[in-house]
Amino acid sequence: MDNQGTTSILQNRIVLFPLPFQGHINPMFQLANILHSRGFNISMIHTKYNFPNPSKYPHFNFHIISDGLLESGVSNPVNIIKFLNSNCVEPFRECLDRLMFDYHVDCVITDANWPFTQAIADSVNLPRIVLRTSSICSFLAFAAVSLFRDKGYFSNLDSNMDAPIEEFPPLKIKDIPQGEITSNSEDVFQIIDAMVQQTKKASALIFNTFSELEEPDLPKLYNQFLMQTFTIGPFHKFFSASTTSLLTHDMNSISWLDKQEPKSVLYVSFGSVATMDTQKLQEVAFGLANSKQPFLWVIRPGLVNGSEWIETLPNEILESISERGYIVKWAPQQEVLSHFAIGGFWTHSGWNSTLESICEGVPMICSSFFGDQMTNSRYVSDVWKIGIKLEKGLERDEIENAIRRLMVEKEGDGMRERILCLKEKIDVCLNTGGSSYQSLEKLVDFITSLRSSTV
Ligand code: UDX
Repeated sequence: MDNQGTTSILQNRIVLFPLPFQGHINPMFQLANILHSRGFNISMIHTKYNFPNPSKYPHFNFHIISDGLLESGVSNPVNIIKFLNSNCVEPFRECLDRLMFDYHVDCVITDANWPFTQAIADSVNLPRIVLRTSSICSFLAFAAVSLFRDKGYFSNLDSNMDAPIEEFPPLKIKDIPQGEITSNSEDVFQIIDAMVQQTKKASALIFNTFSELEEPDLPKLYNQFLMQTFTIGPFHKFFSASTTSLLTHDMNSISWLDKQEPKSVLYVSFGSVATMDTQKLQEVAFGLANSKQPFLWVIRPGLVNGSEWIETLPNEILESISERGYIVKWAPQQEVLSHFAIGGFWTHSGWNSTLESICEGVPMICSSFFGDQMTNSRYVSDVWKIGIKLEKGLERDEIENAIRRLMVEKEGDGMRERILCLKEKIDVCLNTGGSSYQSLEKLVDFITSLRSSTV
C-alpha cells in the first residue's frame, strides 16, 4: 500500500545470481529459462567477470555488478570464489535494494557458492532459494567435510589414499573433495563449510538432478537440509547450454564425426576449469594413441599450465594422433554426445558433463580433478556402474587399458546397457507425472506462494 492507501502495482520478478563459471552459468541460465517459460519475469544479477552476451537473452533484465577481479590479479577458481564472496557483498546489496524498489521481488535464487547472499536476503526479508548445480551425492560429501576433518582424513591425504571412508561409502580417502587446485586446503574447507552452513538457512534448495538417480541419498539430504527441496533436472533437456557458452564451439567436430563409424569414437574433454601440466598432457596423448581407438579431444586454451595450446605435444604423437584423432579447442558438447559416432566419454566428471552423458546414454571414463568431481566419478564407477574411474590419475597404461575396456570389451557393453536404462528413466521423469515434472510444478507453486507472504 502506498501512503494514499492505494495498492501500488509493481511487476513481480525473480532475481537470479549465478556463480560466474561455465559449469555454474549454464545451469543457472537454464533454470532462468525454465522459470521464464512458466510465466516468471527474470532479473539476472551478474558479475563483470564472465558477463554473458545479454543480446542472447532479450527476455531477461540484466544487472551487472562490479567485482574488482580483473584489477586484483587473483587467479585459480578457489581464490576467485573467495575473492568474489568478499568483494561482491556491497555491489550485490545495492543492486538488490534497487531491484526491490523497482519491482515486487518474489525471491532471490543464488548459487550455493554465494554464501554471503543469505545474510543479505535475510536482512531485507527476502526468501533465498539455493541452486546447487551439482549432484546430491557430492553435496552430501561436502556436508560431511567437517566430519572428515575431525576424523583426521585430511591429515592422512598422503598415506593410504585407497582406504575406504567408513562413514561415507563408497568414497575413499583420495575422493575427499579438497582437490589439487590449490595447496591451501584450509581455504577450500572454509568455502565448502560456508556453502553448506548458509544453504541450511535458505528457504529452499534446487538440484539439477533427477530423483531416480539419487534415490538412496534423498533421505540423508532431507535429514540434514530441513527445507523444501526440488530435483527438477536435467535442466539441459529443457534448454540447451549452447547459448551460454563462453567459448566458441568448433562445429568442424561434427563434420569430422559424420565420417566415423557408429559408436566408434571416444570423446575427451576435461571441462572449463581443470588444468594439468605438460607431463600429464603427454600421458593423456600416449594413452589415447596407444589405445588405437578414434577420438575427438577438446584441448581448451589454458588446459595445460604454461602452454598456449598443444605446442608441447611431441610431433611423433601429433602424427600418430592425426591418423585417428581430431583435436579442437572447444566442442558443441551436447551435439557431440548425441552423435551416432560417439561410443564413450572420457570426462573430468563435472556434473553438467556427467548429466549430459547420461542423457545421451554414453558410458564414461572418469578423471576427476577436484571438488564435486571426486564424488561424481566414484558414483559413476562404483554405484551407478556406468563408467570406469582412472584410479592412478593420468597414467598412460591405465588410460589405454580403460579405453579398451570401455570401447572394445564386453565390460563396456554392460555399462552401455545400464546407462541406457538411466536415459530412459530421464525421459519418463520429465514427462507429465514424472518426478522432475512434479517437482517443477511444486517449485512453481512454492515461488508463487512466496508472493503472498512477501507482499
Ligand atoms: C565446474 C566444475 O569443474 C564441476 O565440477 C562442477 O560440477 C561445475 O562447475 P566445468 O569444469 O565447467 O564445471 O564442467 P561441467 O560441469 O561438466 O560443465 C561444462 C559445460 O561446458 C557443459 O555444459 C558442457 O556441455 C560445456 N562444454 C564443455 C562445451 O560446451 N564444450 C566443451 O568443449 C566442453
